[in-house]
Amino acid sequence: MNNQVGSTNECAIFGLIEAISTYLATHRETIGGVNEILAQISSAAIKKKFLKNYSTLTSTHKNILETSINNIRGQSLKAIRECLLSAMGELIWRQDQNEYYSLDSELGEGYRTSNLHTLLIGPSNAKYHHPDFMLGFFLLAPFTFYRDHSHPAPELYVNLSPRTGWRFHGGEWEDFKAGSLIWNETNKVHATRVYDTPFISIFSWVNNINSPCKTFMCKDWKRIESELNVLRGREDKKGSG
Ligand SMILES: [Fe+2]
Repeated sequence: MNNQVGSTNECAIFGLIEAISTYLATHRETIGGVNEILAQISSAAIKKKFLKNYSTLTSTHKNILETSINNIRGQSLKAIRECLLSAMGELIWRQDQNEYYSLDSELGEGYRTSNLHTLLIGPSNAKYHHPDFMLGFFLLAPFTFYRDHSHPAPELYVNLSPRTGWRFHGGEWEDFKAGSLIWNETNKVHATRVYDTPFISIFSWVNNINSPCKTFMCKDWKRIESELNVLRGREDKKGSG
């Protein structure tokens, strides 16, 4: 990756990508795909044009973003957190406006209303350009169920939140802690369950980024969503009481 232009803001995003790369490099041996991601990062080129920041965050999204960044803890994630805070003014935060799913996908309310992402590297809306690779941050509100889905793009997540539930191919739920990595090879079905604090992660799509996601119907979707709604109700009660 070539940081040709040396302004402070561009350096902030460059520094953030460097901090992510340093973290990923420590997992080269254990997680498939990390080497390919590091190679893709190296080949990204800086955009020559000034990128206008047109994030339009709702107050709910602002709150999710602030809380989730405050919750990034631990020495190993400190550099990423600090670089993210430094780059905040230049990042474009957006909601998925059916760019990744067809309109009739049964995604449920949780994902549709609360998803938020920013791209550091990508084909558009990113300071660094790559036609077939994405690196960014992805967030979801507390008590959201991101239903089982798959996509042809191989994907990496770095969980930055204290605890997040994941399941693969509709199997048993497993909790992952901050700093853990999830590697989803092509078309691997995965789902995410967010508990009482918002979900924040680094994500990357390694290639094949123009092929859309598909949901993978599981019988327990409604039950999981109602369980999370009960937990949300309890939390709201605590907050108001
Ligand atoms: Fe995914």
